[in-house]
Amino acid sequence: ETVEWEAASYDMGGHDTYMHKEISEQADAVDRVLRGRIDEKFSTVHLGGLNLDAREARGIRRVKILGCGTSYHAGMIGASLIEGLARIPADAEPASEFRYRNPVVDPDTLYIAVSQSGETYDVLAAVQELKRKGARVLGVVNVVGSAIAREADGGVYVHAGPEVCVVSTKCFTNTVVAFALLALHLGRIRDLSVADGKRIIEGLRKLPEQIQEILEGEEDIKKLAAEYADAKSMMFIGRVRGYPVALEASLKLKEISYIHAEAYPASELKHGPLALIEPAMPTVAIVPSDGLLEKNRAAMEEIKARSGRILAVAHQAQEKADHTIIVPKNEDELDPILMGIPLQLLAYHTALALGRDIDKPRNLAKSVTVE
Ligand code: G6P
Repeated sequence: ETVEWEAASYDMGGHDTYMHKEISEQADAVDRVLRGRIDEKFSTVHLGGLNLDAREARGIRRVKILGCGTSYHAGMIGASLIEGLARIPADAEPASEFRYRNPVVDPDTLYIAVSQSGETYDVLAAVQELKRKGARVLGVVNVVGSAIAREADGGVYVHAGPEVCVVSTKCFTNTVVAFALLALHLGRIRDLSVADGKRIIEGLRKLPEQIQEILEGEEDIKKLAAEYADAKSMMFIGRVRGYPVALEASLKLKEISYIHAEAYPASELKHGPLALIEPAMPTVAIVPSDGLLEKNRAAMEEIKARSGRILAVAHQAQEKADHTIIVPKNEDELDPILMGIPLQLLAYHTALALGRDIDKPRNLAKSVTVE
């Protein structure tokens, strides 16, 4: 059983597809998830529905994030934000995998269920199982009052507005921003300094404008999509913070263009997938200007040495790449939010060039409410 959106009830607002409309709305959407939550005095954020007091927040020893599809990828970035800013060991896992492995449920672990719709069965069932075992579960959910939102002990609403296209774009971005807020909140209750709190708040405030700047580069991305649309298969690589960006970008391309794509941590290339590299297998490389820049350049060099074509998403032109999409720099922790956006447009224009049914890709549903 799947949930069908009443697509006709939402105005396309002059766009040809819902996906395009939703990609284009992201600056406003991010503005909404931030609104009313930032506390300048204490360099933190207030999250009204969290239902977790400071003493409880200090007692958390681990964070486990559960979700499916795009929400799982948002959860991976969420885990690195929580681990980085709040210094709590955190990781994400597909909700279905978690359910079926009879996990150890630990009272000092905070569980977080991520779901745009709030109705995905695998996520809901994981939440119910956790609650049955006495765990504390928060939700990071877009649809207010949805099943997962109701079942959770508390949580953060993502406030992206309705998302109609089967594949998720603005909800992904807003979910990651919601995780940044949660990480900042937990961090400032624990050991994150005032200065770092301020730094992240300033970075968050810059996001809507920077997103708009990326969206204004759409025409160039469209040209790049035309260059790469003939690929039968594409490789996406990233490192640490860049890896979930690569995973999500490859999922987006698969879902709507039906081009085979896979994502690898850049450092794992040499342990197998390098065998696939040849001119017909282009690579999209996530190359932020952070402490790992040189490592990422080395990976691009390996690909070039095998005559692979490279499209880099970076903060500065990359000499090893055939093409570079330059995105504005934010704080290292927040860069993944921006680096994913041009790749939504790349997937979109690739699918458009191939004549795909973008809002309703074959075999997929917006919400999977059965096992
Ligand atoms: C379906 C959709 C995906 C989505 C996943 C999780 O498979 O096709 O786009 O990421 O469900 O959905 P959720 O509503 O839980 O975020």
